[in-house]
Amino acid sequence: MASHGIQIVEVGPRDGLQDAAKLLAVEDKVRFIELLAQAGCPVIEATSFVHPKRVPQMADAEEVFAATAHLQDDGLRLLVLVPNLRGYDRACSVGVRNVALFTAASETFNTKNTNATIEESMERFLPILEKAQADGVWVRGYVSTAFGCPYEGPIDPKAVAEVADRLYQAGCAEIALGDTIGVGTPTRVRQVVSEVTRFVPVGNLALHMHNTRGRALANIVVGHEMGIRIFDSSAGGIGGCPFAPGAPGNVSTESVVERFEAEGVSTGIDLGFIRAAASHIDRALLGEHDED
Ligand code: HMG
Ligand code: MG
Repeated sequence: MASHGIQIVEVGPRDGLQDAAKLLAVEDKVRFIELLAQAGCPVIEATSFVHPKRVPQMADAEEVFAATAHLQDDGLRLLVLVPNLRGYDRACSVGVRNVALFTAASETFNTKNTNATIEESMERFLPILEKAQADGVWVRGYVSTAFGCPYEGPIDPKAVAEVADRLYQAGCAEIALGDTIGVGTPTRVRQVVSEVTRFVPVGNLALHMHNTRGRALANIVVGHEMGIRIFDSSAGGIGGCPFAPGAPGNVSTESVVERFEAEGVSTGIDLGFIRAAASHIDRALLGEHDED
């Protein structure tokens, strides 16, 4: 982890774009990532190597990654989502060094998202983790629906902890707890983080909060009070999930940076570049770059 008080994981290029109706040009995505890198983001989730028919926006994963891979030379961690061994091999073929696996604490969401039960997800991940270890590839593991599921409602914190524990024991270096549909509350965060930290060291935990009416920031503050130092966010607060109806955007990077810097906690992020990145991608989503 960097020498700053907290670490921002900028997920805009992946979570922010995956559910956008307008398919963007590779150059627009690359420019977005370049501006985020200029802002000083230490980790950027660049794309995902999922099935192109399931998430058409990510069908250009190889091209986007190949065009931004050089940013890794400056110490930036470029992270990508991989759902299975096929995704891992696609990612490695273009030089990916950091991957994120994803499963959930809810069976229904996991099945709709990945066509696998939680158990089947783990079976998919074990060979990837084995390969990643041999390849020296760094691995994050997501537990989606950690604070509630669009299909099953509230999720038992013990079920979240069990999945987090399995991912951590299997070799994921970092566990990200996902509030996929933004239903977390400070009380819920306390309950879930208390349970998960019985199994996963707090230093290896990240919060990935989608934002309903500003609650994400309150949830992040609670996570910080409990010792978490890694927070996912997206420039401009874009985000969503095609398989979680009603999922709101991610908490905005601007709001997280402002909140922590105001309290004297350094983030290492230059908000001017974050705003430039957000405005660039907003214009692209509105189709304003087509004739440039
Ligand atoms: P599946 O259909 O079960 O896969 O999909 P399969 O193994 O049965 O294979 C079927 C066909 O797909 C085969 O082709 C495979 O080669 C191909 P065929 O032989 O029929 O011609 N295939 C692939 N092609 C390209 N890339 C691949 C790949 N895998 C199989 N990686 C799968 C399973 C998971 C791949 C699919 O369901 C999928 O892509 N789902 C998309 C999931 C997704 O992207 N969700 C959004 C991201 S998660 C999220 O947003 C939550 C998060 O933000 C945290 C939070 O907020 O909580 C992370
Ligand atoms: Mg998400």
